[in-house]
Amino acid sequence: MNNFTFCSPTYFVFGKDEENNVGKYVKRFGGTKVLIHYGGGSVVRSGLLDRVKASLQREGIGFVELGGVKPNPRDSLVYEGIALCKAEQVDFVLAVGGGSTIDSAKAIALGAVYDGDFWDFYSGKFVEKALPVATVLTIAAAGSEGSTGSVITKEEGLLKRSTDSDALRPVFSILNPALTQTLPAYQTACGVTDIMAHLFERYFTNTKDVEVTDRVIEGLLMTMIHEAPKVIENPNDYEARANIMWAGMLAHNNCCGVGRDQDWSSHDLEHELSALYDCAHGAGLAVVFPAWMEYTMRHDVMRFAQVASRVWGCAMDYQHPERTAKAGIHAFRAFLRSIGMPQTLAELGGKAEDIPYLAHTAAYGNGNSGTMGGFVILQEEDMANIYRLML
Ligand code: NZQ
Ligand code: ZN
Repeated sequence: MNNFTFCSPTYFVFGKDEENNVGKYVKRFGGTKVLIHYGGGSVVRSGLLDRVKASLQREGIGFVELGGVKPNPRDSLVYEGIALCKAEQVDFVLAVGGGSTIDSAKAIALGAVYDGDFWDFYSGKFVEKALPVATVLTIAAAGSEGSTGSVITKEEGLLKRSTDSDALRPVFSILNPALTQTLPAYQTACGVTDIMAHLFERYFTNTKDVEVTDRVIEGLLMTMIHEAPKVIENPNDYEARANIMWAGMLAHNNCCGVGRDQDWSSHDLEHELSALYDCAHGAGLAVVFPAWMEYTMRHDVMRFAQVASRVWGCAMDYQHPERTAKAGIHAFRAFLRSIGMPQTLAELGGKAEDIPYLAHTAAYGNGNSGTMGGFVILQEEDMANIYRLML
C-alpha cells in the first residue's frame, strides 16, 4: 500500500426530512448570507426549494438565488454566480440538486474569492481557498457531495475539465434518499453507472497488497448490482435508494481509493463525449468503460479475473484466466443493458468520423499532456482505438 493522507471533514446528515434542518447547519458552519444554487427546475417542482428557503428563514439567514444549472454545467452560469456573490457579499454557497449543481456551486465558491478568471483552476492552477459549500443532494451519482472535485464545461471550444482540492469538499451534505424518488429511471441508471465507474477507476491499479480497499470496492459494487434493479423496478423503494445514496458517497470521497494508484482514463474519455454530445455522464460511461476494459484487460488479466469472480460470480478458470476476465466484462455490459444504459457511441449521438477529434482533444485539449491513465498509460492512438471499440 502507498503512503497517503486522507481528510474528509464533510458532516453528513442522512435520512428522511433532514432538508428541513438545513438552516441550522448553515448557521453551525458560519454562513450568514447564502447563495442557493439549483438546476433546471426539479427542486422547484418537488417543493424542495421552498422547504430549504423556509428553513433558512426560520434561522434568520439571508439568501440570494441562482437557478438554471444544466447537466454538464457551463462556465457562463459560473461567471454569473461569481458576480452575484461578490455584489451581494455572499459568504456561503448552498447547492440544492445533483452533481452538476454541486460542481457549479464549487466553481462559484472558488471564483468568488479570486480576482482572476475562475477557469485558471480548471486549467491546472491549484485551488487554495473557496467559500464554504454545502449540499442538499437530489441524485445518487457523481459523489460531489463528499468529493474534492468539480467538473465544468467551457462553452467556447466545448471543453469539459475538472479541478480537485480539499478546499472544495462540502462542509456539510444533507442526504435524504426520499428526495431521489422523483428521478426518472434513466437518470437513476445513469447515477448507478457513475457510482460503479468511480469504483472501477480505483479498482484497476498497479499497486500491490491493497486487500482492504479491494474488498471495500467489491462490496460496494455488489451492493449496486443488488440494489439498482430494485429502484428501477420500484422508484419508491426507500431502503434501496438509501443504500445506493450512501454507496455513491463512499464510492467517491476516496475512502476506497487511498493508498493505491488509480486510473481515470474512462472518465477523461467520457468527458469528451459529454462535452461534444451533451449526453448524461453516466450514459457516456456505460459506453466507455466496457470498451476501456476490453482494451486494457491484457495488462493485468488476473485483476480482471478477480473482479469477475468475486463481484460477478464468474467461475475462475485457472488454466485460462482471460476467459474469466472476459466473462466479467460481459456481465458488466449485460448489467448496464438491463438497467437501460446505452452500449454504443451511436446511441449517444456519435459517429466514426468524430473519433480523430475526440481522441485529439482528450489527449491535448486545454493543455493536456498527450497521455492519460494510471493503470495503463494511453497515448492518443490508444484513445482512438478505445473510441473505435464503442462503434
Ligand atoms: O436540473 P434539474 O431540473 O434539477 O434536473 C436534473 C438533471 O436534469 C435531474 N434531477 C436531479 N435530481 C432529480 C432530478 N430529476 C428529478 N428528481 C430529482 N430528485 O437529473 C438530471 C441530471 O442532474 P445532474 O446534476 O447533471 O446529475 P449528476 O449528479 O449525475 O451530475 C453529473 C455531473 O457531475 C460530474 C459529471 O461530469 C457531470 O457533469 N461529475 C462530478 C464529479 C465530482 N464533482 O466529483 C465526479 C463525477 O465523476 C462526474 O464527472
Ligand atoms: Zn463520474
